[in-house]
Amino acid sequence: MVKISPSILSADFTNIKKDFRMMEDGEADLIHVDVMDGHYVPNITFGPPVVKQYRNLTEIPFDVHLMIEKPEIYIEDFVKAGADILTIHSDATIHTHRVIQQIKSYGIQAGISINPGQGLEDIEYLLPYLDLVLLMSVNPGFGGQSFIPETLEKIKILKEMIRKKAPNVLIEVDGGVTLDNAPTIVEAGADILVAGTAIFKAKDPKSMIQKLKME
Ligand code: DX5
Ligand code: ZN
Repeated sequence: MVKISPSILSADFTNIKKDFRMMEDGEADLIHVDVMDGHYVPNITFGPPVVKQYRNLTEIPFDVHLMIEKPEIYIEDFVKAGADILTIHSDATIHTHRVIQQIKSYGIQAGISINPGQGLEDIEYLLPYLDLVLLMSVNPGFGGQSFIPETLEKIKILKEMIRKKAPNVLIEVDGGVTLDNAPTIVEAGADILVAGTAIFKAKDPKSMIQKLKME
């Protein structure tokens, strides 16, 4: 079954406890935490102190998506804040291989993210060191955008690359995921779906998590 990682970017920050309870009731597999620095992406969210406080609200693993330049500077801070998975962008730092090893040295999971305009060649030789690849299906920075259809082909190519080189690596797809397109994304090879708007703006967010899981 596909895993669901609700993105709290679309949560109600004035009543975040309620949203965390909802994600527990809906049996979310992971919680997707979007960290933005205003440089790598044109938006700013939150940093380690906020993640640390949220960590006390649930046992669900934190899937932390770092949309920040030079992520190596902050890896330790996010580990201490309670990240279970740390994903960096392949073009946010020069030595991705080193940063992945840095993340793994703390005994947590490591991911690399690829933007819609990027190919997969930068990660081919990194696959054996990774736990997941986060394929962006929108340009990072904002929730509520539409799924870029070419991502489907990229998922299929990546799936094949993973099969040959590192069969345990998971494919996570992030951006514009809805109940309508989820079946096609899963069929193409996605193992984890991130969904912000589709879940938090749904009439019944809890049952939306359940419905997305069925795909
Ligand atoms: C975008 C973020 C996504 C975003 C997805 O930069 O990485 O995680 O929250 O939001 P939706 O599901 O609304 O496209
Ligand atoms: Zn994200």
